Amino acid sequence: MRHVQIAPSILSADFAALGRDIAAAERGGADLIHVDVMDGHFVPPITIGPIVVRAIKRIATRTLDVHLMVDDPDRFIDDFVAAGAGMVSVHVETVPHLQRTVTHIKKLGAKAGVVLNPSTPASMLEDIAGDVDFVLVMSVNPGYSAQEFIPHTIQKLQRVRAVLAAAGSEAPIEIDGGISLANAGEVVAAGASILVAGNAIFGTSDAEAATRALRAAANKAAGV
Ligand code: DX5
Ligand code: ZN
Repeated sequence: MRHVQIAPSILSADFAALGRDIAAAERGGADLIHVDVMDGHFVPPITIGPIVVRAIKRIATRTLDVHLMVDDPDRFIDDFVAAGAGMVSVHVETVPHLQRTVTHIKKLGAKAGVVLNPSTPASMLEDIAGDVDFVLVMSVNPGYSAQEFIPHTIQKLQRVRAVLAAAGSEAPIEIDGGISLANAGEVVAAGASILVAGNAIFGTSDAEAATRALRAAANKAAGV
Protein backbone atom coordinates (compact mmCIF):
# COMPACT_ATOMS: atom_id res chain seq x y z
CA MET A 1 0.00 0.00 0.00
CA ARG A 2 1.43 3.32 -1.10
CA HIS A 3 0.59 6.83 0.01
CA VAL A 4 -0.23 8.84 -3.10
CA GLN A 5 0.12 12.61 -3.07
CA ILE A 6 -1.87 15.06 -5.19
CA ALA A 7 -0.01 18.13 -6.43
CA PRO A 8 -2.27 20.67 -8.16
CA SER A 9 -0.33 22.75 -10.69
CA ILE A 10 -1.14 26.44 -10.40
CA LEU A 11 -0.15 26.95 -14.04
CA SER A 12 -3.83 26.38 -14.83
CA ALA A 13 -5.12 28.52 -11.95
CA ASP A 14 -6.43 32.08 -12.20
CA PHE A 15 -3.28 34.15 -11.66
CA ALA A 16 -5.43 37.08 -10.52
CA ALA A 17 -6.90 34.88 -7.78
CA LEU A 18 -4.10 32.52 -6.82
CA GLY A 19 -4.92 32.63 -3.11
CA ARG A 20 -8.52 31.63 -3.75
CA ASP A 21 -7.56 28.80 -6.12
CA ILE A 22 -4.84 27.40 -3.86
CA ALA A 23 -7.23 27.44 -0.88
CA ALA A 24 -9.80 25.50 -2.91
CA ALA A 25 -7.26 22.84 -3.88
CA GLU A 26 -6.12 22.58 -0.26
CA ARG A 27 -9.72 22.10 0.93
CA GLY A 28 -9.99 19.30 -1.63
CA GLY A 29 -7.03 17.54 -0.02
CA ALA A 30 -4.03 18.72 -2.04
CA ASP A 31 -0.79 17.46 -0.47
CA LEU A 32 1.55 19.77 -2.37
CA ILE A 33 1.26 22.89 -4.48
CA HIS A 34 3.11 22.44 -7.78
CA VAL A 35 4.71 25.61 -9.13
CA ASP A 36 5.86 25.64 -12.77
CA VAL A 37 8.77 27.98 -13.40
CA MET A 38 9.48 28.69 -17.09
CA ASP A 39 12.10 31.01 -18.53
CA GLY A 40 11.29 31.50 -22.21
CA HIS A 41 14.48 29.58 -23.13
CA PHE A 42 14.30 25.95 -22.03
CA VAL A 43 10.57 26.14 -22.75
CA PRO A 44 8.86 28.91 -24.74
CA PRO A 45 6.65 30.56 -22.08
CA ILE A 46 7.71 32.77 -19.18
CA THR A 47 5.74 32.14 -16.00
CA ILE A 48 6.74 33.07 -12.48
CA GLY A 49 9.79 33.61 -10.30
CA PRO A 50 10.78 33.68 -6.63
CA ILE A 51 8.76 36.85 -5.91
CA VAL A 52 5.52 35.04 -6.62
CA VAL A 53 6.67 31.93 -4.76
CA ARG A 54 7.30 34.11 -1.71
CA ALA A 55 3.76 35.49 -1.92
CA ILE A 56 2.24 32.02 -2.32
CA LYS A 57 4.26 30.81 0.65
CA ARG A 58 2.41 33.31 2.85
CA ILE A 59 -0.97 31.77 2.11
CA ALA A 60 -0.33 28.12 1.24
CA THR A 61 -0.42 25.54 4.02
CA ARG A 62 1.15 22.74 1.93
CA THR A 63 4.70 22.22 0.73
CA LEU A 64 5.59 24.17 -2.41
CA ASP A 65 6.90 21.85 -5.12
CA VAL A 66 8.89 24.03 -7.50
CA HIS A 67 9.51 22.56 -10.97
CA LEU A 68 12.29 24.48 -12.70
CA MET A 69 11.91 24.46 -16.49
CA VAL A 70 14.77 26.88 -17.00
CA ASP A 71 18.23 26.86 -18.56
CA ASP A 72 21.06 26.94 -16.03
CA PRO A 73 18.82 26.38 -12.97
CA ASP A 74 21.83 26.54 -10.64
CA ARG A 75 21.55 30.34 -10.84
CA PHE A 76 18.10 30.35 -9.25
CA ILE A 77 17.97 27.53 -6.70
CA ASP A 78 19.03 29.57 -3.66
CA ASP A 79 16.41 32.23 -4.40
CA PHE A 80 13.59 29.71 -4.75
CA VAL A 81 14.45 27.92 -1.52
CA ALA A 82 14.75 31.26 0.29
CA ALA A 83 11.31 32.17 -1.10
CA GLY A 84 9.77 29.04 0.40
CA ALA A 85 10.23 26.08 -1.95
CA GLY A 86 10.18 22.83 0.00
CA MET A 87 10.86 20.68 -3.06
CA VAL A 88 12.95 21.74 -6.04
CA SER A 89 13.31 19.75 -9.23
CA VAL A 90 15.70 20.35 -12.12
CA HIS A 91 15.65 18.83 -15.59
CA VAL A 92 18.59 16.51 -16.28
CA GLU A 93 18.67 18.10 -19.74
CA THR A 94 19.68 21.47 -18.23
CA VAL A 95 22.39 20.66 -15.70
CA PRO A 96 26.02 19.73 -16.42
CA HIS A 97 26.96 18.69 -12.86
CA LEU A 98 23.78 17.08 -11.64
CA GLN A 99 25.19 15.46 -8.51
CA ARG A 100 26.51 18.83 -7.34
CA THR A 101 23.15 20.50 -8.01
CA VAL A 102 21.19 17.81 -6.17
CA THR A 103 23.56 17.95 -3.21
CA HIS A 104 23.23 21.73 -3.11
CA ILE A 105 19.41 21.65 -3.04
CA LYS A 106 19.51 19.21 -0.14
CA LYS A 107 22.09 21.27 1.71
CA LEU A 108 19.71 24.23 1.52
CA GLY A 109 17.11 22.10 3.30
CA ALA A 110 14.78 21.34 0.40
CA LYS A 111 13.94 17.99 -1.18
CA ALA A 112 15.82 17.49 -4.44
CA GLY A 113 14.21 16.04 -7.54
CA VAL A 114 15.38 15.37 -11.06
CA VAL A 115 13.11 15.58 -14.09
CA LEU A 116 13.14 13.57 -17.31
CA ASN A 117 11.55 14.87 -20.51
CA PRO A 118 9.51 12.34 -22.48
CA SER A 119 12.43 11.57 -24.83
CA THR A 120 15.07 11.36 -22.08
CA PRO A 121 15.74 7.72 -21.16
CA ALA A 122 15.30 6.35 -17.65
CA SER A 123 18.94 5.19 -17.82
CA MET A 124 20.01 8.84 -17.37
CA LEU A 125 19.15 8.32 -13.71
CA GLU A 126 21.51 5.41 -13.10
CA ASP A 127 24.31 7.36 -11.44
CA ILE A 128 22.12 9.87 -9.59
CA ALA A 129 19.33 7.57 -8.39
CA GLY A 130 20.88 7.04 -4.97
CA ASP A 131 21.12 10.79 -4.34
CA VAL A 132 17.67 12.08 -5.25
CA ASP A 133 14.67 12.57 -2.96
CA PHE A 134 12.23 12.14 -5.86
CA VAL A 135 12.10 11.73 -9.64
CA LEU A 136 9.70 13.66 -11.85
CA VAL A 137 8.66 11.92 -15.07
CA MET A 138 7.20 14.25 -17.68
CA SER A 139 4.23 12.74 -19.47
CA VAL A 140 3.99 15.71 -21.88
CA ASN A 141 6.70 17.90 -23.35
CA PRO A 142 7.03 20.71 -20.82
CA GLY A 143 5.75 24.21 -21.45
CA TYR A 144 1.98 24.12 -21.38
CA SER A 145 -0.99 22.83 -19.44
CA ALA A 146 -3.81 20.83 -20.99
CA GLN A 147 -1.69 18.77 -23.35
CA GLU A 148 -2.42 15.15 -24.10
CA PHE A 149 -0.86 12.43 -21.93
CA ILE A 150 1.85 10.47 -23.80
CA PRO A 151 0.83 6.80 -23.35
CA HIS A 152 4.30 5.19 -23.39
CA THR A 153 5.02 7.06 -20.15
CA ILE A 154 3.46 4.07 -18.43
CA GLN A 155 6.43 1.86 -19.42
CA LYS A 156 8.80 4.69 -18.54
CA LEU A 157 7.44 4.73 -14.98
CA GLN A 158 8.25 1.04 -14.67
CA ARG A 159 11.79 1.57 -16.01
CA VAL A 160 12.40 4.48 -13.62
CA ARG A 161 11.19 2.36 -10.71
CA ALA A 162 13.65 -0.37 -11.74
CA VAL A 163 16.57 2.08 -11.94
CA LEU A 164 15.73 3.43 -8.47
CA ALA A 165 15.42 -0.09 -7.06
CA ALA A 166 18.82 -1.05 -8.51
CA ALA A 167 20.29 1.87 -6.55
CA GLY A 168 18.49 0.73 -3.40
CA SER A 169 16.16 3.74 -3.51
CA GLU A 170 12.46 3.88 -2.81
CA ALA A 171 12.25 7.55 -3.77
CA PRO A 172 8.76 8.56 -4.93
CA ILE A 173 8.08 9.09 -8.61
CA GLU A 174 6.12 12.20 -9.54
CA ILE A 175 4.28 12.34 -12.85
CA ASP A 176 3.43 15.58 -14.62
CA GLY A 177 1.37 16.26 -17.72
CA GLY A 178 -2.07 15.27 -18.90
CA ILE A 179 -3.05 13.57 -15.63
CA SER A 180 -6.80 13.21 -15.18
CA LEU A 181 -9.44 10.90 -13.74
CA ALA A 182 -9.05 8.85 -16.93
CA ASN A 183 -5.43 7.84 -16.26
CA ALA A 184 -4.80 8.45 -12.54
CA GLY A 185 -5.38 4.81 -11.65
CA GLU A 186 -3.12 3.55 -14.40
CA VAL A 187 -0.16 5.78 -13.50
CA VAL A 188 -0.43 4.87 -9.82
CA ALA A 189 -0.53 1.18 -10.71
CA ALA A 190 2.62 1.71 -12.83
CA GLY A 191 4.50 3.23 -9.88
CA ALA A 192 3.74 6.95 -9.62
CA SER A 193 3.24 8.30 -6.09
CA ILE A 194 2.88 12.05 -6.72
CA LEU A 195 0.31 13.15 -9.29
CA VAL A 196 0.58 16.65 -10.72
CA ALA A 197 -2.60 17.98 -12.30
CA GLY A 198 -3.26 21.41 -13.76
CA ASN A 199 -6.12 21.40 -16.20
CA ALA A 200 -7.92 18.48 -14.51
CA ILE A 201 -8.17 20.60 -11.34
CA PHE A 202 -8.16 24.29 -12.22
CA GLY A 203 -9.72 23.81 -15.65
CA THR A 204 -12.94 22.77 -13.92
CA SER A 205 -15.49 25.01 -12.24
CA ASP A 206 -14.80 23.41 -8.83
CA ALA A 207 -11.12 22.89 -8.00
CA GLU A 208 -11.96 21.53 -4.56
CA ALA A 209 -14.20 18.76 -5.90
CA ALA A 210 -11.78 17.98 -8.74
CA THR A 211 -8.88 17.56 -6.28
CA ARG A 212 -11.00 15.29 -4.12
CA ALA A 213 -12.04 13.18 -7.11
CA LEU A 214 -8.45 12.76 -8.28
CA ARG A 215 -7.37 11.71 -4.80
CA ALA A 216 -10.15 9.13 -4.66
CA ALA A 217 -9.14 7.66 -8.04
CA ALA A 218 -5.47 7.56 -6.98
CA ASN A 219 -6.24 5.98 -3.60
CA LYS A 220 -8.36 3.32 -5.22
CA ALA A 221 -5.48 2.27 -7.48
CA ALA A 222 -3.04 2.35 -4.55
CA GLY A 223 -5.37 0.12 -2.53
CA VAL A 224 -5.89 2.72 0.19
C1 DX5 B 1 3.90 21.34 -18.05
C2 DX5 B 1 3.95 21.61 -16.57
C3 DX5 B 1 2.86 20.95 -15.87
C4 DX5 B 1 1.50 21.44 -16.27
C5 DX5 B 1 0.55 20.30 -16.11
O1 DX5 B 1 4.96 21.92 -18.64
O2 DX5 B 1 5.16 21.13 -16.01
O3 DX5 B 1 3.02 20.97 -14.45
O4 DX5 B 1 1.03 22.54 -15.54
O5 DX5 B 1 -0.69 20.68 -16.60
P1 DX5 B 1 -1.76 19.59 -17.05
O6 DX5 B 1 -2.08 18.75 -15.85
O7 DX5 B 1 -2.89 20.42 -17.52
O8 DX5 B 1 -1.12 18.75 -18.15
ZN1 ZN C 1 5.27 20.89 -13.73
